[in-house]
Amino acid sequence: MKRIYISAFLALAGLQATAQDITISKAYFKQGDDMSWAKPEMDDASWGEIDITKRWNDQGFPQNARAYGWYRIHVNLPKNVLNSADQQNAIILNLPKADDVDECYLNGKLIGSTGRMPTNPAGYFGAVNDVRNYVVDIKNDGVRLDEDNVIAVRVYNRGGGGGLFNNPLTITCPKAADGLSMRLTDTNVGQYHYDIEVNNAYMTATAGTLDITIIDRETGVKVKSLSKKLSLKRNNPVRVTIPYNMDRMYQLTATYTDAKTGKVLTESRQLKYVLTPTAPTTPRFNGAPVWGVRPGSPVIYRFPVSGEKPMKFTCGNLPAGLQLTESGVLSGKIDCAGDLTFTVTAENAKGKSQQEFTLKVGDDMIGQTPPMGWNSWNCWGLTVTQEKVISSAQALIDKGLADYGYSYINIDDGWEAAERNPDGTLDANEKFPSMKELVDWLHERGLKFGIYSAPGATTCGGYLGSLGYEKEDAEVWNKWGVDYLKYDWCSYENVRVQENDYGYASCIRPYLLMQKFLRQQPRDIFYSLGPLGGTQVYLWGLYCDGNSWRTAQDINDTWKSIYDVGFRQQLGKSQYSSIGHWNDPDMLVVGKVGYGLGENTNGLRETRLTPDEQYTHITLWTLVSSNMLIGCDIAQMDDFTLGLLCNNEVNAINQDLLGKQADRVLKEGDIEVWRRPLADGAIAVGVFNVGDEDQQVDMKSLLYGQKPTITIRDLWRQKNLSPSELNCIIPMHGCRFLKVMF
Ligand code: GLA
Repeated sequence: MKRIYISAFLALAGLQATAQDITISKAYFKQGDDMSWAKPEMDDASWGEIDITKRWNDQGFPQNARAYGWYRIHVNLPKNVLNSADQQNAIILNLPKADDVDECYLNGKLIGSTGRMPTNPAGYFGAVNDVRNYVVDIKNDGVRLDEDNVIAVRVYNRGGGGGLFNNPLTITCPKAADGLSMRLTDTNVGQYHYDIEVNNAYMTATAGTLDITIIDRETGVKVKSLSKKLSLKRNNPVRVTIPYNMDRMYQLTATYTDAKTGKVLTESRQLKYVLTPTAPTTPRFNGAPVWGVRPGSPVIYRFPVSGEKPMKFTCGNLPAGLQLTESGVLSGKIDCAGDLTFTVTAENAKGKSQQEFTLKVGDDMIGQTPPMGWNSWNCWGLTVTQEKVISSAQALIDKGLADYGYSYINIDDGWEAAERNPDGTLDANEKFPSMKELVDWLHERGLKFGIYSAPGATTCGGYLGSLGYEKEDAEVWNKWGVDYLKYDWCSYENVRVQENDYGYASCIRPYLLMQKFLRQQPRDIFYSLGPLGGTQVYLWGLYCDGNSWRTAQDINDTWKSIYDVGFRQQLGKSQYSSIGHWNDPDMLVVGKVGYGLGENTNGLRETRLTPDEQYTHITLWTLVSSNMLIGCDIAQMDDFTLGLLCNNEVNAINQDLLGKQADRVLKEGDIEVWRRPLADGAIAVGVFNVGDEDQQVDMKSLLYGQKPTITIRDLWRQKNLSPSELNCIIPMHGCRFLKVMF
């Protein structure tokens, strides 16, 4: 078998043997996994040849999910390879990308790895699109100059296509200071601070200066400036910690200038800022004064009231059939349709407050306002467990989110047992030791419980779906006490393909079937229809008696996704939304998210949205009457995220009783204005800058000419604006959220 030697390759190509010239696109390949294949002496004569710029499945090898493959490259590295290098002590292997995780061995020694193998104690982490540049120390990493070297790359494929791909392997030599890097991490344990870390990955030590400035974004004034001399040994990062306050909008910039080479690294970040004023210590009702229930169904409702604890709830005119606990949990049932209005009082050491509340009893009364709560998907993905769910639910109460109306605790995909029982019922898997206990725990606290399934044979995450067992599933969920079902789409597409039936009727059928069984249960189950699949669910969701339906594909925590899912895909959709039947642009991506695959050890990461983008996200979702399902781990939620989610005036727009979703009424360049009418005759207006540059915006001219009698309120800051404050800068991807009162 012919071997691929770099020196031979160079000779053939007529190139000078400098490291910068070395490019390899072929290797020897075998699927399977054996750690002895990392060893240089291992005989790979029988292995096949592969192009490393294309995935293995594109070259006739089986696709193989959850499987390994090994690549071996033989390299004769001439001594003079280092001649042109600024640093004579290292080479860099620029590997192809790897679908999904790789480990790279040189002559049997591990020299680099990207992503985390499933056996990693920190949990699997796919890193398909990451660049893989591994720095090799000539002395310590066992490079054999003028001899045969073996680079062995072990690749793990989780699903879909697999293997090395995208670019050939290149071998280069470091330029001085190429090994310098800077990383900024926002930390909020104890105090809010940024850690600025400068590292030198190369062998030769260096030194330089780190300059840090903080600028007030509204006034342009420099509020902090700091300069530090750093000396950087190999892989010995130097960290500087900068504490900050969230009282104003600040920008932090860190610049490292290397003394030896003059190389400059710069990173800049918006600091988190809280606009929501602190809530009063006196009781304040924060929820819509209404809840809907079907006749005979159990009422589960927790009055959302902020203020100092302990707090005591009473009601002088509570209708027969209902009970109210001192801690504000309403329960009971009402058998006849009709509106029941009563006054609830909340009292604490600081004072008391009242709300006139209406319980609407009737067959089509579920979801009077968009549901608010939490769902496990955007943080935990398929790694969700009972413990994680309880932890977020407890934090929902402890951190006060329940005092703002967040009340659903929903488990997404990943709870299902591997097989159905002989009677067709489906239990939870070992990650949920007792669903019943979990639900009872939630109900006792006035919280509601949601579950997930799909109409096909399998769910989107590959677990068992409800196809053929709709009745059994609805009955089990009733036993557990389910209050919300997210019914996805996913593999149901296969049924349509098999039946060669692609009309809307074929979409409606499975959803109607499940709804029939849900409605047969003696409890209310909010029915949330899954994403688009091959079809537009918002066009037919109402015919399945859905309470909400997805109006976009899956969200993720990037500006691109907020822009696509929000600004583009919610456009022109207001006609499909009405009370009890809401459009759902998907769950929130503020806080610590990551789908169980985030970079941190527990599979989470800080959302990749900037603070301005997060204000925009919540503002737009509020305007379009979206389900407000928190997607992060609430146990780790910081004050910034709490401020985003617990602004009573902002939430009141989402929960407005008129139930009219906003429309975009103006687009001028990158400025978009979205507007929704409100029950009290006012209107809510979001002014967004979706462009990549800050813009001066005269909102006065955007808001109905100069009619002098209107009052304009800034909803995030909860204060009325003077005319001069209406001419302002809206930062890139940022917004202003206003209530215009006539
Ligand atoms: C789909 C949905 C997601 C999530 C996953 C679960 O992708 O859109 O919100 O429920 O399935 O597998």
